[in-house]
Amino acid sequence: MLAGPSVRDVVVLDRTELAPGVVLLGFYAPELVAVTRPGQFVMAVPPGGERAATALAIYEAQGERASFLFFVCGARTRELAELRHGDKLSLTGPLGNGFTFAGARDVAIVAGGVGIASVLLPAQMLVEAGARVRLFYGARSVDFLVDRDRFATAGCELCCATNDGSLGHRGFITELLAAAEDKPDLILACGPSPMLRATAFVASELGVPAQLALEEAFACGVGGCWGCVVPLDRASPQAPKFPKPAGDDGFVYARVCKEGPVFWAHELRW
Ligand SMILES: Cc1cc2nc3c(=O)[nH]c(=O)nc-3n(C[C@H](O)[C@H](O)[C@H](O)COP(=O)(O)OP(=O)(O)OC[C@H]3O[C@@H](n4cnc5c(N)ncnc54)[C@H](O)[C@@H]3O)c2cc1C
Ligand code: FES
Repeated sequence: MLAGPSVRDVVVLDRTELAPGVVLLGFYAPELVAVTRPGQFVMAVPPGGERAATALAIYEAQGERASFLFFVCGARTRELAELRHGDKLSLTGPLGNGFTFAGARDVAIVAGGVGIASVLLPAQMLVEAGARVRLFYGARSVDFLVDRDRFATAGCELCCATNDGSLGHRGFITELLAAAEDKPDLILACGPSPMLRATAFVASELGVPAQLALEEAFACGVGGCWGCVVPLDRASPQAPKFPKPAGDDGFVYARVCKEGPVFWAHELRW
């Protein structure tokens, strides 16, 4: 039987800077690879061990190696970016619910900025299962549309957008999704909240179900503090059974770290 989430000490194997302040960090973690599902994350304790853990998606998971792809934006990611081959790192995970896509044949994956880190595993699994996968990838400029070749090599069709027009459509990636000629049968998305809300809107206009991986700020990351909640339809299978909802207004608060981070767009009450 496969083990569930647990605390693991892992050893860094490789480090690549894909763009200024964007780091790909590979580490030896065969047990994590064996139990990871696409869309799950870990809580990583920075090397000094003095700061709170930070949530990171599992980017690659193959054989004995897993990796993170992260943007250096604060103290914890700065510390993680200093790790080198042979350094040790403590992780709790894998955590949360991942994407579900069994049977999907034509999937649009929408990724904005660092959201790309959550979508490589589902893209690879979908292509392996014979699905058509279009990656709609948006960022502020071409420099931050990182690791595109990996998705192309995996068999994805790429549609890109940048805020400054340095590659692809100038504007929002959701505008390309809305204008796509062929309607997908499923949409998966990860990125900043405005992009996810726009994706949910486009999905509902197209009549296509969408799953969104939320990037809420986490404190504990393991369901203990209720600091990361979003309103969710009470009827959702992901709705927590407790605490009891206060009124009869049709929603409950769900923890992004525990019941999510992936939710059906039509079940979120944003
Ligand atoms: C489930 C999940 C998976 C994630 N996976 C990745 C990943 O694979 N790669 C990656 O680079 N980041 C990822 N993140 C975001 C990452 O956890 C945060 O950016 C984290 O706060 C960085 O810690 P820090 O101490 O370096 O920066 P902080 O000091 O915490 O933050 C620096 C700046 O980023 C902003 N910020 C913090 N958290 C978020 C957030 N969640 N969304 C948007 N802005 C935020 C802050 O407001 C601040 O301006 C993920 C978050 C979640 C919830
Ligand atoms: S971050 Fe503590 S419950 Fe989600």
